[in-house]
Amino acid sequence: MRLALESDMVAGSMLNFDLDAYAAPRRKLIEQQLDEYLPEREPAALWQAMRYSVLAGGKRIRALLCLASAEALEHMHSSKFKAVEAALPCACAIEMIHAMSLIHDDLPCMDNDDFRRGKPTNHKVYGQAMALLAGDALLVHAGELLLRRTPAHIDSTRLIDIAAEMARASGPHGMVGGQVADCIATGLVPQGKPAATVNAELLESIHKRKTGALLRFSTWSGARLMGGSDEVVEALADFGELLGLAFQIADDLLDTTGDLQTLGKTPGKDQASGKLTWVSIYGIDGSQQTLAALQKKGESLLRQTQLPADATAPLNALLAYAIQRRS
Ligand code: IPE
Ligand code: IPE
Ligand code: MG
Ligand code: MG
Ligand code: MG
Repeated sequence: MRLALESDMVAGSMLNFDLDAYAAPRRKLIEQQLDEYLPEREPAALWQAMRYSVLAGGKRIRALLCLASAEALEHMHSSKFKAVEAALPCACAIEMIHAMSLIHDDLPCMDNDDFRRGKPTNHKVYGQAMALLAGDALLVHAGELLLRRTPAHIDSTRLIDIAAEMARASGPHGMVGGQVADCIATGLVPQGKPAATVNAELLESIHKRKTGALLRFSTWSGARLMGGSDEVVEALADFGELLGLAFQIADDLLDTTGDLQTLGKTPGKDQASGKLTWVSIYGIDGSQQTLAALQKKGESLLRQTQLPADATAPLNALLAYAIQRRS
């Protein structure tokens, strides 16, 4: 697809950015690296279950955001390192944590889904015990890979900070915390009390944690790996969180408007299971309006970084893609 970015007026002309041309070679690298990080060792059933979900396709938006954020800083004179080389292990670690979150999210005790990425869900193929364990293994394997495979020229204090932040984004303050709030709101936790009235603030907080936290970490980590200034790193992190919120709102919309073939997962599940979603509160039109507003805000966050427009063009295009996607 060719995305014309309205906000990127460079010397009075519209900057065209071809996201497919940008993403295709990077996706290939990400897939190759993930394949290498998941060798078929013993116990064979475990590695097979891990490989099944991680290598089953997926848009790789989190990994792409991590690379794009690192690349946005590549040409700054303070950064001596090749961005893709520096960020690829981190980008793959994020994809593994994401795959773990999907395997667990699909379990019968959570969203009880049968299809993911166009294939039967992990527990449908390997059983619930293995799905749980494959998720656990992916989570800790991701941490090991980040620490061991990030190039040695990255300062170790910085790497420890990144590992700590990855744990924070995935854990009780981030993704898992958001998933718990999602489960409570859906009435899945016996001790949890679903809110009596629909609370828009609660919904935004759920989306920002269950999805936004890992996307925030994706852009934050790319910039931090490249030694960006605190201001730029934080602005790119805020952009990632905003993109994450938009991404989950688009996901809520696609659950009502998409089909199994295109989505690779069963649509209509949110309403059937009484999920608290953007659509359940604001409707389809309201959700689309929120997305349009978030796109403008995201573009403005990128401008605030004062990075050149061509350096942030991939991030801008990924935001547009997150909002306009069909799968
Ligand atoms: C699905 O994530 C779960 C959400 C956070 C909405 P993606 O839509 O990124 O799933 P893949 O990786 O492309 O399969
Ligand atoms: C999932 O949100 C968020 C995760 C952390 C996995 P959803 O439950 O809406 O994701 P899908 O629709 O199953 O992909
Ligand atoms: Mg869910
Ligand atoms: Mg789900
Ligand atoms: Mg969903």
